[in-house]
Amino acid sequence: MMPQETNLCASCSILFSITLLCLQLTITATAPTNETDLLAAKNLVTALDLEGYKLRGSLSPYIGNLSFLRSINLQNNSFYGEIPQEVGKIPTELGSLMKLENFQLSMSNLTRGIPPFLGNLSSLKTFTVGYNNLVGNIPDAMGQLKGLVFFSIEVNKLSGTIPSSLYNVSSLQVFSVAYNQLNGTLPTNIGLSLPNLQFLLSSGNAFSGPIPTSLCNATQLRVIDIAENNLSGSVPTNLGNLLDLFKIHLTENYVGRGFHFLTSLTNCSKLRYLDLATNQFGGVLPNSVSNLSTQLTYLILAHNDIFGSIPASLGNFVNLTVLILNDNNFTGIIPTSFGRLQKMEIISLMGNRLSGEIPASIGNLTKLFESTLG
Ligand SMILES: *[C@@H]1O[C@H](CO)[C@@H](O)[C@H](O)[C@H]1NC(C)=O
Ligand SMILES: *[C@@H]1O[C@H](CO)[C@@H](O)[C@H](O)[C@H]1NC(C)=O
Ligand SMILES: *[C@@H]1O[C@H](CO)[C@@H](O)[C@H](O)[C@H]1NC(C)=O
Ligand SMILES: *[C@@H]1O[C@H](CO)[C@@H](O)[C@H](O)[C@H]1NC(C)=O
Ligand SMILES: *[C@@H]1O[C@H](CO)[C@@H](O)[C@H](O)[C@H]1NC(C)=O
Ligand SMILES: *[C@@H]1O[C@H](CO)[C@@H](O)[C@H](O)[C@H]1NC(C)=O
Ligand SMILES: *[C@@H]1O[C@H](CO)[C@@H](O)[C@H](O)[C@H]1NC(C)=O
Ligand SMILES: *[C@@H]1O[C@H](CO)[C@@H](O)[C@H](O)[C@H]1NC(C)=O
Ligand SMILES: *[C@@H]1O[C@H](CO)[C@@H](O)[C@H](O)[C@H]1NC(C)=O
Ligand SMILES: *[C@@H]1O[C@H](CO)[C@@H](O)[C@H](O)[C@H]1NC(C)=O
Ligand SMILES: *[C@@H]1O[C@H](CO)[C@@H](O)[C@H](O)[C@H]1NC(C)=O
Ligand SMILES: *[C@@H]1O[C@H](CO)[C@@H](O)[C@H](O)[C@H]1NC(C)=O
Repeated sequence: MMPQETNLCASCSILFSITLLCLQLTITATAPTNETDLLAAKNLVTALDLEGYKLRGSLSPYIGNLSFLRSINLQNNSFYGEIPQEVGKIPTELGSLMKLENFQLSMSNLTRGIPPFLGNLSSLKTFTVGYNNLVGNIPDAMGQLKGLVFFSIEVNKLSGTIPSSLYNVSSLQVFSVAYNQLNGTLPTNIGLSLPNLQFLLSSGNAFSGPIPTSLCNATQLRVIDIAENNLSGSVPTNLGNLLDLFKIHLTENYVGRGFHFLTSLTNCSKLRYLDLATNQFGGVLPNSVSNLSTQLTYLILAHNDIFGSIPASLGNFVNLTVLILNDNNFTGIIPTSFGRLQKMEIISLMGNRLSGEIPASIGNLTKLFESTLG
């Protein structure tokens, strides 16, 4: 036990020295440097983790000397560059950390752009700068990061199109650009150029054009979240290739042209979340909807122009907890089969042209706490 404890303390004190070395905090007036510490640190500490320390201040230029750093996590702090006027800027000193694999500066009060020099950090695997106020375009140079796995810039004010070079980083697994002001189309070959993609998170932007059919080639996709954009056309009919697909979120686009894709989703046995609300789906909801996974938990089709009857086969989805069908043009009765939906918590059917009695079987839904049956 003892030697281990000693070692632990030794690395604690080295981390502390590095902290002092790297930061000229407005609250402390220290910046000692000590070559011995630096050399020791090279052997022992490859990470600088200051997440959530409530630190505010500038990074010392000396941080650029810590070229051995593999990981830098300054998440949930407020940092700026050497010159105090550079408030909200990603510090230039970080551009010399060539071994950096992990770059985490989300929630750090950043207000400037993403600097192109970051494209030089060729070891980078994780890049997270979400939840700041970053502006400007995503630099082309980010496409040079050939080993990038996790790209996360969500909830900023970045604008313009995504550089095509970035869609060429075939190692990407997580692509999270949601809630910015990005536009342009999703590239036709996205699923071929990003074959390892698992999470496509692009909601809340101004992307337009069709949903690329090549998504079916990114066979590890688990989440397609492209809601709140300007996408149009139909849902590709080959998404059934995506056996790990868990969530499809398309709400608030201009997508429609029928439900042909539902048949293909039969193979997606892990699908739990299907949200097509506020689009242009018209026509009848076909019985093939019953071929969706019985794990389906959320089915949201509100604000479209779907007519005909509500398929009684929806009663097969015993795991449904949320069923939102309001503001369509459904006619006929509420199926008595809904009495089998024992896990149902929220059901919304208003704004349709349903008739008849509310079936007694609804009384079976003991978990229901919100229902608008209209
Ligand atoms: C540097 O720090 C080490 C240990 O932290 C100490 O032993 C050494 O005396 C210091 N050197 C100088 C020049 O301060
Ligand atoms: C940020 O750090 C503060 C403590 O410094 C903590 O209370 C807060 O929960 C953190 N926020 C997030 C989103 O992690
Ligand atoms: C360390 O960084 C400082 C400030 O950028 C620089 O002046 C100095 O030359 C660097 N030292 C080494 C050994 O790289
Ligand atoms: C960001 O800046 C605001 C205003 O200066 C401050 O109140 C807030 O604590 C800062 N957030 C973090 C995570 O440091
Ligand atoms: C990237 O590194 C190269 C070589 O060190 C250098 O010439 C170039 O200026 C750097 N690019 C940026 C944008 O810093
Ligand atoms: C994308 O947005 C920029 C402004 O951020 C605008 O100049 C450009 O015309 C837009 N492009 C498209 C295709 O909408
Ligand atoms: C993407 O990769 C292909 C094949 O390696 C290459 O031909 C093309 O120029 C690249 N595109 C960009 C924008 O980097
Ligand atoms: C992409 O998927 C389609 C549909 O399964 C398939 O026909 C095609 O061969 C795939 N393309 C590549 C390059 O794997
Ligand atoms: C989205 O599409 C609508 C209708 O097609 C159009 O009026 C609107 O300008 C588009 N918005 C953006 C941000 O591209
Ligand atoms: C319902 O969900 C549970 C938990 O995910 C799962 O174990 C079960 O197989 C599901 N039931 C059906 C009929 O798919
Ligand atoms: C519902 O269908 C009726 C009859 O076809 C049509 O007149 C009406 O406009 C539709 N309402 C909506 C909201 O689509
Ligand atoms: C009501 O629930 C019971 C099990 O709790 C089930 O046997 C019965 O079939 C249900 N009734 C209807 C009409 O679905």
